Amino acid sequence: MTKPLNIQFKALNAKTEDAITLFAGDKLALGKIAKDYDQRSQKALTKSAKAVGFTGKSRSFAHILAPANLPVNQVLLLGGAPKKDVTSADWTKLGGFLANNVASKNATAMSVIFDFARGEASVDDIADFALGAYLRIYKFDKYQKPNGAAKNENGGSKLARLTIHCANPAAATRAYKVRKAVGEGVHIARDLVNEPANILSPVEFASRVKALKSSGLSIEILGEKELKKLKMHSLLSVSQGSKQPARIAVMKWMGGKSKKDAPICFVGKGVTFDTGGISIKPSAGMGDMKGDMGGAACVTGLMATLAKRKAKVNAIGIVGLVENMPGADATRPGDVVTSMSGQTIEILNTDAEGRLVLADAVWYAQEKYKPKMIIDLATLTGAVIIALGKEFAGLFSNDDKLAKQIKQAGIDTDEKTWRLPLSPRFDKMINSTTADMKNIGGREAGSSTAAQFIKRFVKDGTPWVHLDIAGTAMGSPKTDINESWGSGFGVRLLDKLVADHYEK
Ligand code: BES
Ligand code: MN
Ligand code: ZN
Repeated sequence: MTKPLNIQFKALNAKTEDAITLFAGDKLALGKIAKDYDQRSQKALTKSAKAVGFTGKSRSFAHILAPANLPVNQVLLLGGAPKKDVTSADWTKLGGFLANNVASKNATAMSVIFDFARGEASVDDIADFALGAYLRIYKFDKYQKPNGAAKNENGGSKLARLTIHCANPAAATRAYKVRKAVGEGVHIARDLVNEPANILSPVEFASRVKALKSSGLSIEILGEKELKKLKMHSLLSVSQGSKQPARIAVMKWMGGKSKKDAPICFVGKGVTFDTGGISIKPSAGMGDMKGDMGGAACVTGLMATLAKRKAKVNAIGIVGLVENMPGADATRPGDVVTSMSGQTIEILNTDAEGRLVLADAVWYAQEKYKPKMIIDLATLTGAVIIALGKEFAGLFSNDDKLAKQIKQAGIDTDEKTWRLPLSPRFDKMINSTTADMKNIGGREAGSSTAAQFIKRFVKDGTPWVHLDIAGTAMGSPKTDINESWGSGFGVRLLDKLVADHYEK
């Protein structure tokens, strides 16, 4: 993996790196420091800007090489300025935009000078900007030779250090410490999603979870023996055709005021590879199913973040880890299993396996931890990609207040969700003639019938949200803050939810 970007904060007048970024506002408005650089270089900055038609528009830049009389070898004039309508997410995107463009300019170290013609960026703005840069400098390149053709084609970034010069570097350092915990959590989630399934088996996933003990989490791993004892036959039915044994990994962070306060439970689908089982998937695109543990990856990254930033919350992360393979022992369509809850399930399609995992993991969460609410994340249905594409995760909930809080956190972090319906009508579609329910509901409303299935394992009175992240967790379009296949979707969203509403 590309080494994470090292970010530090210094005073405005501290010595800079050889490459610097200066901000320009609308109509090329320059702050005092930028003006001074411009003067000293005989207007090299403003002349270059005019020559390339750069006017200070946000997310655009002018690149000035070897300006005369300046102690630097390159200057990036970056469009952007503090304004009322510039949000936290905008600063994050701008930081990512800069990091991406520096990366293509051969610089290994860059100074960014937070000085503007008008207004001032707050310490939070600066920290958000830094987070964007941190997130953008991520590549899953561990299987590529350092100087190999493939790597060069990807334009491996050389940017290793970002120095941010600002009015209050001590306060910015403090604010960034929290953001960095978030950035690290996102990188953990991306690493897990990007990792191929021959390496990332359920057992390997569990051991990566164990390694997070060093971040302050308490970890518990349930092996096959324990899962059988708990009667998780729904979850176990998914992995019975695979040589890889199932695991549940539990991550605990009890940072709340009292250890007795009911925790929030985050539950993730962790199908390390989904062939579909006996209801096997077509070949085209099947490789993407290495990312079918995107929900579990998010829960893992989120729990790491909460621990790293010592969030004042009690939270439990539970990930159900299985591999869905065809094999002599695999589940046959038509088989009936008894879930941990006692409800029976007729498995008519072995490719609708995520809900079988969640059924037991969600039930276990309630039995064991009596949570104040449950949020599950899963790359659950192809149908949600058809409905919402790659910009929005599907949100299902039995609790309007919680649904609204998550929607807002999504707007604030730009990890957007869109609420889709649950309904007794959809519930009816999963009634079985043989068992208490069947695991498919037909072609119509595929994401809603899947959510409805999970709801049957949520006890009355427990606020619950299900996020279908099939479209947002993997196969991600390139953005200012991510160029990798796995996005780490959900870590920033749920960290924000916790920070805004559930920390005392
Ligand atoms: N993991 C898939 C859903 C998925 C599809 C995620 C594409 C990401 C990209 C899930 O296990 C699945 O196979 N769902 C089926 C359900 C159907 C059999 C009812 C689907 O969506 O086709
Ligand atoms: Mn499937
Ligand atoms: Zn799946």
